[in-house]
Amino acid sequence: MDQERPVRLTHMSANLEMVVVLAAGEGTRMKSSTPKVLHEVAGRTLVGHVLKAVDSLKPKHVRVVVGAGREAVEAHLAQVAPGVTTVFQERRGGTGHATQLALAGTNISGTILILAGDTPMLTGQSLQELLKLHHAGGFTASVLTAEHPDPTGYGRIVRGDDGSLLRIVEERDADDFVKAIYEVNSGVYAFDAKALTGAIGKLSTDNSQGELYLTDVIEILRNEGGTIAAALIEDFIEILGVNDRVQLAESAALLRDRINEEFMRAGVTIVDPTTTWIDATAEIASDVTIYPGTAILGSSKIATGAIIGPRTTLESCTVLAGAKIVESNCINATIGKDAQVGPYSYLRKDTVLGTGAKAGAFVEMKNAKVGDGSKVPHLSYVGDATIGEGTNIGAATIFVNYDGVEKHHTTVGDHVRIGSDSMLVAPVSIGDGAYTAAGSVITEDVPPGAMGVARGKQRNVLGWVMRKRSGTQSAKAAARHSDEKKG
Ligand code: UD1
Ligand code: MG
Repeated sequence: MDQERPVRLTHMSANLEMVVVLAAGEGTRMKSSTPKVLHEVAGRTLVGHVLKAVDSLKPKHVRVVVGAGREAVEAHLAQVAPGVTTVFQERRGGTGHATQLALAGTNISGTILILAGDTPMLTGQSLQELLKLHHAGGFTASVLTAEHPDPTGYGRIVRGDDGSLLRIVEERDADDFVKAIYEVNSGVYAFDAKALTGAIGKLSTDNSQGELYLTDVIEILRNEGGTIAAALIEDFIEILGVNDRVQLAESAALLRDRINEEFMRAGVTIVDPTTTWIDATAEIASDVTIYPGTAILGSSKIATGAIIGPRTTLESCTVLAGAKIVESNCINATIGKDAQVGPYSYLRKDTVLGTGAKAGAFVEMKNAKVGDGSKVPHLSYVGDATIGEGTNIGAATIFVNYDGVEKHHTTVGDHVRIGSDSMLVAPVSIGDGAYTAAGSVITEDVPPGAMGVARGKQRNVLGWVMRKRSGTQSAKAAARHSDEKKG
């Protein structure tokens, strides 16, 4: 992903003293018990995407202003970005108030970057370009802007006759003339830290919302003789914020397209990009083929030559070269080189398929190690098991791992042949080269090379159908044979 590439611009990065992420808002329109910035798209939270883009700038300090859902947001940040510090904004007094809190007690110089926590499309590249312009021009403040086809709700960029940025006017405070402006404020700014610290105390709540607007700092700095830049971003998609579930879905689809495009350009065949959902955290090598209706989620890693789908979900799985997975669902599983899965199989936590192994049609596995070349081709459950190499598990075999209270382990050796419809009642062990007879309920260990038979002996009650079911189609069909014999 572009935004995940290491940064070259080291002289600039050294200048980036602090990044402030504003994330204290309520997110009321999400109508959710989860704080807005913790909603996910493409396998990361909204704030997680922002922090990933920020991380590529290698800032000295990152401060996140938290408020609504503080505990949950702080717990999440501790996990995904342990280096950041949080600042608590108890009362939502506006973006200017949040910035005042973030700067309180600091005495920094150099550059400070400020952005919001709900813009998952923003790339590290665009942030770098803003910093580049900011530093190259020696500006006091630089604002990232975009031309939005529907600017409703955004702050508008008001430029003077010479094109320079005069001020930012919020929608609610705008007259018709200002509302007709398509260029909008992205909410991403680079500031000279000293100048910002000086100006931030001069904000007033003299606006329609009675809040302190960070945007007003632009006009203050300009009036004090500061130089202001407005950097117009090419693709307005990058600045889209998420405020409700409709925008959440829109940004998920846009991220999906962006991620798919990058993988396709890197040599991955995606047969139907509109139905292929790959998380930003997944890794896929070139010459992988992905069929429609497939999701590759979490920390999944797919090696070259693998064929995935159609209609397959892989969550945090490792798939080695040349493996093939058809119409299946796999979570925390490792699929070996040239192994095969599916159709319609479910591989759960800690399943490891060896090289050339097979979990065939309608097979469920959990905590199962399947050795190289071993096959579980049809309709089986394999739970809490170790299977050696070159072994075949007959159709409809069940590893009976649960006694109703505890789970137990089954060990199956190398080159074993388990007969169809065997029940292997754990804990139990089947030795190397052993067989089990079809339909056996195996409750005791089978030694190497033995045939385990555990089922009733068959007896045939001759003439039963003619006596007990006379007149039925079965009896008539059977009777033909006695006629034949007579004839
Ligand atoms: C803000 C900008 C607007 C811009 C838009 C871009 C202001 C006054 N307006 O408007 O010019 O076009 O973003 O999306 O800045 N927040 C806090 N504490 C607060 C208030 C907000 O942390 O007291 C955070 C929010 O969680 C959010 C960000 O700041 O992440 C922006 O706040 P929001 O209320 O969404 O501002 P907008 O009205 O979208
Ligand atoms: Mg907003």
